[in-house]
Amino acid sequence: MRTIDWDDDRAAVRLIDQTRLPVEYEVVYCERVEELIEAIKELKVRGAPALGIAGALGVVLACKTATEGEEIERYLMKLKKARPTAVNLFYGIDRAYSAAKRGKTPEEKEKLALAEANRLIEEDIAVNRRIGDYGSELLEDGDVVLTHCNAGRLACVDWGTALGVIRTAISRGKHIEVIACETRPLNQGSRLTTWELMQDKIPVTLITDSMSAAVMREGMVNRVIVGADRVVKEGVINKIGTYMHAVLAKEHGIPFYVAAPTSSFDLEHGYEEIEIEERSPEELIYCGDTQIAPADVRVYNPAFDFTPFELIEALITEKGVFHTPIKLI
Ligand code: MRU
Repeated sequence: MRTIDWDDDRAAVRLIDQTRLPVEYEVVYCERVEELIEAIKELKVRGAPALGIAGALGVVLACKTATEGEEIERYLMKLKKARPTAVNLFYGIDRAYSAAKRGKTPEEKEKLALAEANRLIEEDIAVNRRIGDYGSELLEDGDVVLTHCNAGRLACVDWGTALGVIRTAISRGKHIEVIACETRPLNQGSRLTTWELMQDKIPVTLITDSMSAAVMREGMVNRVIVGADRVVKEGVINKIGTYMHAVLAKEHGIPFYVAAPTSSFDLEHGYEEIEIEERSPEELIYCGDTQIAPADVRVYNPAFDFTPFELIEALITEKGVFHTPIKLI
């Protein structure tokens, strides 16, 4: 099943609830834009490309609920505020709303927004396949690839960016194994990356984030591939911990690759200008229902970090591979 899609029968957004994985596979439906906004905030749907689709489908729901333009825009402001860092959310909203605005009646607007959202869904799948085509050329038979967070099919509509590169390489006969970092504090690596790779019978080993230096030093890894939430003027913003792996990869002479669609590009802005989402202290103070830190401890919990292009050997996009020294503008 696609990670996120439109259900015609229910006139609702259908998505895999990623907060329940890997224990339960549950599909949820959002019939109202407020439900979708909550699903985004709670990370039921997450990952930059999937957030782009959520944004576009959110416009469809906003047009369905609201009767006039101003009301739609109020919903879209709330939708944009659901998560600030991945640029795809804004990209998806803007594309679908530009299409919707060509309609005169609410019904026409909804129809046009849905047609554009469906185009984005098909584009996402095709773009990931192309990223896979280009990126798989960089992998050699026998490689062990370390990845962080989840940049797989669960972060997109299907196939994935970083994991898509691995899937394509495997489909072309290369033997590739994966080391998945757990990705504290929300564990997208241990909960989602391992789950989706195991579904496809791709060999995967789980490690804690802090083991990455040791596995590199021991020669257990020969490439790193991650995704991106936003590619800015001087580098890449991605899940917290990405920068640490990039620094370590440089130190150990291991190629560090980023796989991302150009819909994640925001080359008009530099890193300093981007809001890095800071999440609730509870994510560090509790592990499930168990308290693991003093309840009133001061917490710093940014969800993303910045990796400069100097640390990235190749940026893999659907338009081709940009090799180091990466210059996009
Ligand atoms: O907080 P998340 O789970 O939405 O963060 C996701 C990531 O950081 C991914 O690596 C990124 O969105 C790329 S997904 C193809």
